[in-house]
Amino acid sequence: MATEPDIDSTAADLRHQLTTRLADTGRLHSPQWRAAVATIPRHEFVRRFYRETDAPGLTTWAPVTPELSGVEEWLRQVYADETLITQFDGREIDWSDPQPIIGAHPTSSSTLPALVVSMLEELQVHDGMNVMEIGTGTGYSTALMCHRLGAEQVTSIETDPAVAARARDALDRCGYAPRLIVGDGLAGDPEGAPYDRVIATCGVRYIPHAWVRQARPGGLILATLRGWMRSLGLVRLTIDHGERAEGRFVTGDPSFMIARQQDAPASLGMIPAPDDGASRTTPYGPDVLTQAGSGFVAQLVMPSARFFSTPADNGTPAGTYVLDATDKSFAVLTRKGQDEWNVRQGGPVALWDVLENALDTWRAAGSPKPTEFGITVTATDQRVWLGSTDGPNWRLPIAADPA
Ligand SMILES: C[S@@+](CC[C@H](N)C(=O)[O-])C[C@H]1O[C@@H](n2cnc3c(N)ncnc32)[C@H](O)[C@@H]1O
Repeated sequence: MATEPDIDSTAADLRHQLTTRLADTGRLHSPQWRAAVATIPRHEFVRRFYRETDAPGLTTWAPVTPELSGVEEWLRQVYADETLITQFDGREIDWSDPQPIIGAHPTSSSTLPALVVSMLEELQVHDGMNVMEIGTGTGYSTALMCHRLGAEQVTSIETDPAVAARARDALDRCGYAPRLIVGDGLAGDPEGAPYDRVIATCGVRYIPHAWVRQARPGGLILATLRGWMRSLGLVRLTIDHGERAEGRFVTGDPSFMIARQQDAPASLGMIPAPDDGASRTTPYGPDVLTQAGSGFVAQLVMPSARFFSTPADNGTPAGTYVLDATDKSFAVLTRKGQDEWNVRQGGPVALWDVLENALDTWRAAGSPKPTEFGITVTATDQRVWLGSTDGPNWRLPIAADPA
């Protein structure tokens, strides 16, 4: 008869391996964060979860629990460097008979450990500092911060009450009682302010000004900026005196699920009729929307746009529709020749003109990486600039802070 492995000692071995791997790959540098990763039992935060499979076609997730997978396999997956999904489409998972899930939209997770620890290293904390985290999720990253700084120095905000309740239980099982708030983290936490550090583990379309006001002068905000097409990257801003913050993109890579209150409208918008808009030719085809550098520029200058492509059908050529659901601007691309496209644009903003101008500027500057860009935030304006604050710049789509 097979014997059940001892959870604590198996988990400790696997955790040691994960810690070593994160250190060897250069993600984990400081002894304090290393000690936190080596100590915090991730399995307390992800007792059951879904993990992406290799199945071809639509993204498919498979359930993993000790009962379904066996304790050893469950622990092996918990301590793999993987993102573990704990909620889809804002609804609780029915664990009575868990089935594979296809084509859903993850809304809560325990983030990839390599990304969690890279962000914690980038947060540049020192003993005695207090931190506000937005996006408690499973509570795993909250626990790492409690280990590093002391639970009394940590505040974490989660918008989803059921997710927050699970995180509270897990933190409790680990002996940590940070300040946990259920609410919209875009409003921050005026009562606990001022904070030395603000870290967001959900993506945002702009930096909520409440975070700037609630951080100390000289303090840091670390967050991933994103739009409705893709991520722009991780930014670290330093709080100036007053209500201003400024910083640079640390990397263009990570992508986080967007803050729920900033998610795109469900509808992509109206498809323009075949004779709507004005046509011209363009050297830029739809590839610029998906390629690494130009995709960053496209997301930056078309913050409310999304796109989809259609195959050729009954005499209608294959096309790519770029639609802005907020103001009904559109651009429709169809291939004209080897390196030439036709673009048909309409609505209040000529989206492809805006993108072409920005791409020309970006190429003239040598197609710089996201780390050549920075951001300045004031109470009334947020701009991403290229090179320096007086370089070419683009406005982020700011909205009033939630009350
Ligand atoms: C990627 S998960 C967080 C991962 C987490 N830090 C961990 O280690 O498990 C993002 C979380 O942000 C939460 N969230 C989304 N919008 C939010 C908001 N406006 N305020 C607070 N939390 C939010 C989601 O419900 C989700 O649980």
